[in-house]
Amino acid sequence: MTSGDLEFAHALRDLIGWNQTINDWQRLVAYEPKGCFVAEWEGSPAGTATTTCYGTELAWIGMVLVHPQYRRRGIGKALLEHCLEHLRESRISCIKLDATPLGKPLYEQLGFREEWALTRWSKDFSKYQEEVAAPRSEIESGANLRSWKQSGITQIGQFDSAAFGVSRERMLELLAQGSTRCIIHTSSDDSITGYGMLRAGSKADYLGPLVATSDQTALALISTLLSGPLERSVYWDIPDANVAAVTKAKDLGFAPQRPLLRMHLGRNENPGQPASCFGIADPAIG
Ligand SMILES: CC(C)(COP(=O)(O)OP(=O)(O)OC[C@H]1O[C@@H](n2cnc3c(N)ncnc32)[C@H](O)[C@@H]1OP(=O)(O)O)[C@@H](O)C(=O)NCCC(=O)NCCS
Repeated sequence: MTSGDLEFAHALRDLIGWNQTINDWQRLVAYEPKGCFVAEWEGSPAGTATTTCYGTELAWIGMVLVHPQYRRRGIGKALLEHCLEHLRESRISCIKLDATPLGKPLYEQLGFREEWALTRWSKDFSKYQEEVAAPRSEIESGANLRSWKQSGITQIGQFDSAAFGVSRERMLELLAQGSTRCIIHTSSDDSITGYGMLRAGSKADYLGPLVATSDQTALALISTLLSGPLERSVYWDIPDANVAAVTKAKDLGFAPQRPLLRMHLGRNENPGQPASCFGIADPAIG
């Protein structure tokens, strides 16, 4: 995939109804210029897939899309196999993805195994003009919420890698640059205890990534990120096992929209701490 393919890729994404923006496509290609692919059928573009490497320990496969007109001809499988070959050449030890129910059988055929389930939650804020103010009880005494820019990326990257499993500092920096709201939560000794972002998608704003060491910290971040006027829907992908995040989503009036399944291929030696994940970054990147 090159910049010349982005118009096709973005139109296909729109047809299938996913939420990524042209900025998301540009970020994927800029991050991994040799790792994003377009499938052609008799010379016409028919499908897409992207890879995103986090060192050599972990890579993500995303944006696996085949135009409805070209489905069930083996294009999805060919795209996946091409991604796997590319990642094996790069000696990546573990490959992950967040599968839709349509994609799951394809990934299972290629050896991917289930890690954990997550659900996309959504709420149309344009219908509700109320503000989601952070209740006082959710802000720990002595704790501090501040803008991303006031913290060093190295410190944030180190904090995040404990939860995610590997370092994704460069990706976090790019996501932060593209976010409309981006905040850090620190404890009284100034160490990072959480962070969260909100960014614009094509169909809805997207809440995540959202990482915190405690439920209370996460709730303060969520309330702050969702406070003030929100004019569109918000999508939020939450691990099903994260009871505090699911409860908060329900309390705020979010409704489940679709299931996803985090899957892995190869030894999952760096699973991180899924309990600290209150919202993923994007199904395409983890
Ligand atoms: C999931 C998706 C990428 C699959 O793409 P695809 O090109 O249709 O996939 P393939 O053709 O490689 O395989 C899909 C099925 O077609 C079958 N198939 C492959 N070649 C075939 C052929 N020549 N004739 C008939 N069937 C064929 C495969 O065996 C498979 O069958 P199964 O559903 O019984 O397992 C596509 O449905 C899609 O874009 N969905 C929307 C986006 C999405 O959910 N993406 C997955 C993100 S995780």
